[in-house]
Amino acid sequence: MNPFNVAVVGATGAVGRTILSILAERQFPVKEIRLFASARSAGSVVETAWGAITVEDLTTADPAGIDIALFSAGGDRSREFAPKFAAAGAVVIDNSSAFRMDPDVPLVVADVNDEAIVDRPRGIVANPNCTTMDLMMAAGPLHRAAGLRSMVATSYQSVSGSGMTGVVELLRQIDVLRPNPDALREGGFEDPGSDVYVAPIAFNVIPFAGSEKELGYTDEEWKLVYESRKILDAPGIEVEPTCVRVPVVTGHGIAATMWFERDLDVVEAKELLDAAPGVEVWTDDVPTPLDSAGIDDVLVGRLRNTVGVPGGINLWVVGDNLRKGAALNAVQLAELVAAER
Ligand code: A2P
Repeated sequence: MNPFNVAVVGATGAVGRTILSILAERQFPVKEIRLFASARSAGSVVETAWGAITVEDLTTADPAGIDIALFSAGGDRSREFAPKFAAAGAVVIDNSSAFRMDPDVPLVVADVNDEAIVDRPRGIVANPNCTTMDLMMAAGPLHRAAGLRSMVATSYQSVSGSGMTGVVELLRQIDVLRPNPDALREGGFEDPGSDVYVAPIAFNVIPFAGSEKELGYTDEEWKLVYESRKILDAPGIEVEPTCVRVPVVTGHGIAATMWFERDLDVVEAKELLDAAPGVEVWTDDVPTPLDSAGIDDVLVGRLRNTVGVPGGINLWVVGDNLRKGAALNAVQLAELVAAER
């Protein structure tokens, strides 16, 4: 395969850095790599598998000659610059939510709906939301076999899903609160100050991930609804979402109950998931976010037949939100694009 000129936009961020290491790990055929970030980072040097690369300012970038651009610098940057990179000839793989629901932009989970990637009239491919991505790795194979009809999904999302600022906020609050365990126990602890979340995330759980959108649901919750339907190409799937932020650094968990067009039991569900690429079913141990951190596979555990409304499946899925939930899938999409040539 001929090597490609690759750009990573948002290269200094949590996902951008993971993209760089996964491109190297998977030996993506890189001819030249260019790194872009804000003016703050422009001129700084990043050590990569392809040598020390100087970061360029996105706002003054000339995208000529770039074959594949992986964007993870936030929705506003994607909205402004992804079309410019695409117009200059690059295939853009965009990790933001900017284009996910655009009918002319495919939304692709590698190993779930690869076939959708070829139809990209805008030259842009969207990488799904991290929580939806992990859940679709489990839901996809079950849907193909039995037709997903409805789903109740509750996420347990780590702070790295909010970028480096989420991680910094958790660690800073732990430092403020840790010296006083008695106050923590009595509930009278000092306010550690919250910049990123609506409440302290250290030693706490916040049942509100994302920002308020419509009907009392957050944008993260609506992503679970609309992105699941688009990825599975099934606009009628009923989704009841709740997204929760938890004091975990990496690894998003989702507890989901699913019902299908026909009854599905745990024996068949386990067979289907065992055969699915990128999915590992755990039966002896319970997979936690820590187990998923740093690995590529999404882990599924706690498979149970539903008891209240029979015929469905309860499961727990957990995945590294920076890897399969973002950077790994983006690189897998780049591999699919590369394989077309
Ligand atoms: P920078 O490090 O220069 O701010 P994270 O989500 O982990 O916080 O990372 C966000 C990424 O997006 C970083 O690489 C960041 O670069 C980049 N970014 C943020 N704002 C801009 C901007 N206005 N122009 C270009 N890149 C930006």
